[in-house]
Amino acid sequence: MKFSYVNTTVIHFGVGQISALATNVPSDANVLVVYGGGSIKKNGVYEQVVAALSDHRWMEFSGIEANPTKETLDKAIAIAKSECIDFIVAVGGGSVIDGAKYIAAAALHDGDSWDLVTGKYTVETAIPLGAILTLPATGSESNMGAVVTKRSTNEKLGFMSPAVRPAFAVLDPSAMKTLPERQLINGLVDAWVHVCEQYITYPTGNMVQDGYAEVLLKNLLVLGRQFEQQDDAWRENLMWTANQSLNGLIGAGMPQDWATHMIGHELTALWHVDHARSLAIVQPSLLRAQIEAKRAKLEQMGRNVFGLADSPSLAEHTIVAIESFYQGLNVDLVLSEVPGDKSDAIEQIIAKLKQNGYLEMGENKGITLDVTRTILANAL
Ligand code: NZQ
Ligand code: ZN
Repeated sequence: MKFSYVNTTVIHFGVGQISALATNVPSDANVLVVYGGGSIKKNGVYEQVVAALSDHRWMEFSGIEANPTKETLDKAIAIAKSECIDFIVAVGGGSVIDGAKYIAAAALHDGDSWDLVTGKYTVETAIPLGAILTLPATGSESNMGAVVTKRSTNEKLGFMSPAVRPAFAVLDPSAMKTLPERQLINGLVDAWVHVCEQYITYPTGNMVQDGYAEVLLKNLLVLGRQFEQQDDAWRENLMWTANQSLNGLIGAGMPQDWATHMIGHELTALWHVDHARSLAIVQPSLLRAQIEAKRAKLEQMGRNVFGLADSPSLAEHTIVAIESFYQGLNVDLVLSEVPGDKSDAIEQIIAKLKQNGYLEMGENKGITLDVTRTILANAL
């Protein structure tokens, strides 16, 4: 085991914690509050933010869309620059928080904001930000990643930097009460795949990261089975589990895959498939294509998460159990956005991955473009 681990985001968890904004945002800051399409105005979150910031100087930018676009975020970046914003509060799901991170970093860069995700500009500094989470899924509220889409070219790319890790995050599970069922399910599935990306690789003997990953997976399995009996405890457990699934801990020092995400991002960029649903389409096929490399961890997952009996085909049974988990949530395993012959769609995805340099993905760099072609042929 060899790793450095830190997560500096202060988490304020629980009902009523939005009031913590009042003391967590510096009193002399010039604040930009950013949010999405308006869901926060229907569940009381916006009012709570306004009340908490009553003694602060602040302005707002709304309209950050799901799968946030450079085109929209550039408008907020211009405001952050012209208004000398020195603190950003993101109120929403992963898209709003990712968008806020992009604004926070790009506002301190003189060139085009897209330089952040192409690697032309390395993010080392950003306007400090805090997050009010309304949709548990991505873990963006306490991690250092952000994913942004360029609408003009259908590219979806990310960047990571400790500079954009939120200073604080408010996780108030009551904000989830207005979430449509589809978004709640997306959250469950996204968190699940986040754990899988950091767990279904090869054995390392790291009992803490493995054991914790298994607890998180078991939580998500139970929460999925109890989907119809949602109550306060259900919401609390989902919000905390999703946060822990991608806050850096279970991945510390561990081999990681992330190819499901990289391929899934292309499905979202090209056909606007919900992020989580793109993962459920790609992952089972990817696991089958990589089954020998991943067999030991799939067997471990089968035993420790699903409670499956030992057998020579335990790894295969684990993949079927993962598919059943998605199907139990009514999440499609095939891409319905592209009807009929999928060969053109496959080549479009391959071309995008090639263009973005994803030539060898996965923990062993075993997912070449040819392997990806096979994965897609079986997935789409
Ligand atoms: O825009 P509003 O009106 O707020 O509506 C949103 C949006 O339409 C709605 N919503 C959010 N909270 C709500 C609510 N509706 C009712 N009540 C509430 N409490 O839900 C819709 C989807 O929101 P979005 O933020 O797009 O969802 P999610 O949190 O799943 O974020 C997805 C984005 O995060 C990226 C994805 O690629 C995608 O762009 N990811 C970010 C990661 C990271 N930063 O670490 C990792 C992930 O793997 C992922 O790639
Ligand atoms: Zn994800």
